[in-house]
Amino acid sequence: MERRRAGLGELDFAYGVVHHKDHCRQLIASNGFTTVCEIGGGRSPLFGRDEALAMGLDYTILDISDTELRAAPDHVKKIQADIGARDLDNSGRYDFMFSRMLAEHVRDATAMHRNVLRMLRPGGLAFHYFPTLYTPAFVANRLLPEGAARRVLFFIFPWRRHDHLAKFPARYAKCFGPTRRMKRYFERLGYRVEEYRPFYGTDYLVKIPLLGFIDSLFTRLVARRRSPRFTSYVWLVLRKPAIVASGGAQGRT
Ligand SMILES: C[S@@+](CC[C@H](N)C(=O)[O-])C[C@H]1O[C@@H](n2cnc3c(N)ncnc32)[C@H](O)[C@@H]1O
Repeated sequence: MERRRAGLGELDFAYGVVHHKDHCRQLIASNGFTTVCEIGGGRSPLFGRDEALAMGLDYTILDISDTELRAAPDHVKKIQADIGARDLDNSGRYDFMFSRMLAEHVRDATAMHRNVLRMLRPGGLAFHYFPTLYTPAFVANRLLPEGAARRVLFFIFPWRRHDHLAKFPARYAKCFGPTRRMKRYFERLGYRVEEYRPFYGTDYLVKIPLLGFIDSLFTRLVARRRSPRFTSYVWLVLRKPAIVASGGAQGRT
């Protein structure tokens, strides 16, 4: 937590790592939600069996990978689907849909956010926690060919060779910080943007001499300016309005 000592506090990427789960828990509790769907929960749903029970959750995982779903515990219902598929589901059955490190893997981000809007009941909430461009480490990840990006990752974090999470290619479609353009994008889809919280820095370059130092200077600079363009991760909380303006939510981009 080097950068926390450097004074980034709640803007530090580590804050998001430590607190995103509590944030979801608090959104669920304060809104009285019970029917929840975790997108891309894979084999490791955010809430364990006892937690889901204590919160009274009707808990579904939607994931594209059959392998991941088979490895998932049985306290969750399982749906195998691509959240970025066109017109996936318009059931409006979930109070709360959330994702963690999923959005960057989805090819068609607009289809994903439209699907989530349709799957939420009016008044429901979506929470997405994901890495963003243009922090340098993720720009490099986006630009490098898949194999090279993986080799760099394994060079920096050798233990991730055995990590099943390392195998999903990152595309970063609509994975940006809280610029005005991005807020308008979500509003045009029909959401109300309730929170779009930026974090800065990553731990990818920390151990590389010179590069790590330059990266930490850059991180401090952009964090001090609260730059919406050079965030490294964000939390996004989107509300489906209880009454959808005619022609708004379901129709246009
Ligand atoms: C990097 S893992 C994150 C897993 C878990 N959320 C976590 O943070 O530990 C990405 C997950 O998203 C799933 N995934 C990737 N693309 C998807 C898509 N288009 N639709 C649904 N799930 C997807 C993968 O199968 C995988 O389980």
